[in-house]
Amino acid sequence: MTRALLFFYLMTLALRFSKSISNYAAVNTFYPFLSQDGADPWVYKHPTNGFYYATKSTQTNVTIWRSRYLSTLDIGQSKVIWLPNNTTACRDVWAPELHLIQQKWYVYFAATTCDGNNANHRMFVLENENEDPFQGEFQFRGQLTDETNKWAIDGTVFEHPLTKELYSIWSGWEGDIDVMQILYIAHMSNPYTIDSKRVEIARPTFAWETNHSPHVNEGPEVIIYNQTINLVFSASGSWTNDYCIGLITAHINANLMDPVSWKKRSEPLLKSENGLFGPGHGSLTSDNWLVFHTAAYNGSGWTRQIRLQLFSWNKEDGTPIFTELSDPNKPITLPQNEPQRHRYQLDLPVHHATFNVEAHMTGFHTIVIQVRSKERTQTTNYLITINNSTTYTMDVLYSDNWSSILVSVQLQSGQNTIDLTNIGATPGEIYSLDLVSTSNNRSHATGLSILVFCLSFLIHFQ
Ligand SMILES: *[C@@H]1O[C@H](CO)[C@@H](O)[C@H](O)[C@H]1NC(C)=O
Ligand SMILES: *[C@@H]1O[C@H](CO)[C@@H](O)[C@H](O)[C@H]1NC(C)=O
Ligand SMILES: *[C@@H]1O[C@H](CO)[C@@H](O)[C@H](O)[C@H]1NC(C)=O
Ligand SMILES: *[C@@H]1O[C@H](CO)[C@@H](O)[C@H](O)[C@H]1NC(C)=O
Ligand SMILES: *[C@@H]1O[C@H](CO)[C@@H](O)[C@H](O)[C@H]1NC(C)=O
Ligand SMILES: *[C@@H]1O[C@H](CO)[C@@H](O)[C@H](O)[C@H]1NC(C)=O
Ligand SMILES: *[C@@H]1O[C@H](CO)[C@@H](O)[C@H](O)[C@H]1NC(C)=O
Ligand SMILES: *[C@@H]1O[C@H](CO)[C@@H](O)[C@H](O)[C@H]1NC(C)=O
Ligand SMILES: *[C@@H]1O[C@H](CO)[C@@H](O)[C@H](O)[C@H]1NC(C)=O
Repeated sequence: MTRALLFFYLMTLALRFSKSISNYAAVNTFYPFLSQDGADPWVYKHPTNGFYYATKSTQTNVTIWRSRYLSTLDIGQSKVIWLPNNTTACRDVWAPELHLIQQKWYVYFAATTCDGNNANHRMFVLENENEDPFQGEFQFRGQLTDETNKWAIDGTVFEHPLTKELYSIWSGWEGDIDVMQILYIAHMSNPYTIDSKRVEIARPTFAWETNHSPHVNEGPEVIIYNQTINLVFSASGSWTNDYCIGLITAHINANLMDPVSWKKRSEPLLKSENGLFGPGHGSLTSDNWLVFHTAAYNGSGWTRQIRLQLFSWNKEDGTPIFTELSDPNKPITLPQNEPQRHRYQLDLPVHHATFNVEAHMTGFHTIVIQVRSKERTQTTNYLITINNSTTYTMDVLYSDNWSSILVSVQLQSGQNTIDLTNIGATPGEIYSLDLVSTSNNRSHATGLSILVFCLSFLIHFQ
């Protein structure tokens, strides 16, 4: 290498290593990314109060979130609304859903016995009479089962728009061993009681459902449009790149307890593509967003992230239309009614960045950092320092693609210097920072991060 070339190389390296930026663009776009950590997302848009409510699998409890904006749910207000205290619903709490039925809140979730034996997974119900699910108590309403009492997970409930009858659909085993996961339906006499026999409405049959053993149909979610009851479900091994999302439909006037009323489409709606692997367990909102998880990286199995994708409706047959999985590195238009963002975009990704941002008021602001850990499977950490003093920490889990991580930070009205320093053993890279124009509610995690940082500081420097 010549001296000139070496000099040029070192200069480029130095430039890429660290960068300060003050210019921003006002944008109405975001990366369709909801959370760097999570699976089995459920999102419900309240018809009148403007909140999005959400939950996901946390394994040890049921936690709910809410936010005025879909894109900021990850740092919305949250509450642990149930901790296991029953030996039949004790561990491995999976795929909770929060429903508003007949003016009360219900949570449906799967859990197993205290020995953690998967064969003992069953569905359970919680009920809260309060108008606001963050107030009052969720009461344990016991198990939701038909008379067979077989293995059951991923239960969902819907009210028929014409007859007002309630139905439960879940993924279950036919017998007592894991041969395959079948979708069953049963009629309900109230939101916590099944009063019919279970009826099989779908089992894995197509090549894309049966390429891993045991064969799986699971994650059923109902969305009704015009005359069509759409049952969006997941198929193939949830632990593989082949996990995908399919569609089953029934006509609104059909007998839903008759298996022939339900027709499965021969091709999946969404599968691995555009650098994303194993899309599954989608939840569909009334404003046309699919919230779903993908593997965090090629072959990561149950290490998953939560993403968003817009869909539209086929007015002819009342089914949802999905184009291919959105390119994770391309910003898309923000959900309706979300405030503009100021995007501070670097030309090239850097290891260490300083953003000079202009805040329009004093208080908590949401920042969205496009960031990644560079070493496969390794988590890295960033220190966020505002004006050389207030400090937050940010953990960055490994993903093949960029992650958008939301942090709630205290800013003063006017100029603020936000410094992002990589403190992990693994290198990281920053590409952009968005300042969300209005304040979101302060998250508990942020306060905790400050506390943890102060404690670790004391431990290190005593
Ligand atoms: C609830 O689950 C989450 C995720 O596992 C965990 O971080 C949190 O500490 C749990 N909270 C309680 C009160 O158990
Ligand atoms: C479990 O906790 C709930 C409150 O979350 C309470 O209503 C219920 O009585 C408890 N059950 C047992 C068996 O302790
Ligand atoms: C635990 O839940 C099961 C199933 O609903 C119920 O039969 C049992 O009474 C509950 N036990 C307690 C102590 O609440
Ligand atoms: C996104 O992930 C895919 C699959 O691993 C990879 O080919 C692609 O380079 C990634 N893109 C970026 C920008 O990281
Ligand atoms: C994903 O990983 C597998 C196994 O390492 C590899 O064969 C395949 O090419 C990868 N897929 C993509 C799209 O990078
Ligand atoms: C509902 O479906 C019928 C046919 O089943 C169609 O004629 C009508 O246009 C649809 N309505 C809407 C609002 O899409
Ligand atoms: C932060 O510290 C640097 C060097 O220590 C100094 O140049 C800069 O003015 C400080 N910034 C603020 C906003 O205090
Ligand atoms: C950061 O420093 C700037 C310029 O020195 C000042 O205007 C701003 O109020 C400071 N912000 C905070 C959060 O202290
Ligand atoms: C923030 O959360 C509190 C409850 O913790 C609520 O009273 C307040 O209305 C929320 N503010 C916004 C802007 O959402």
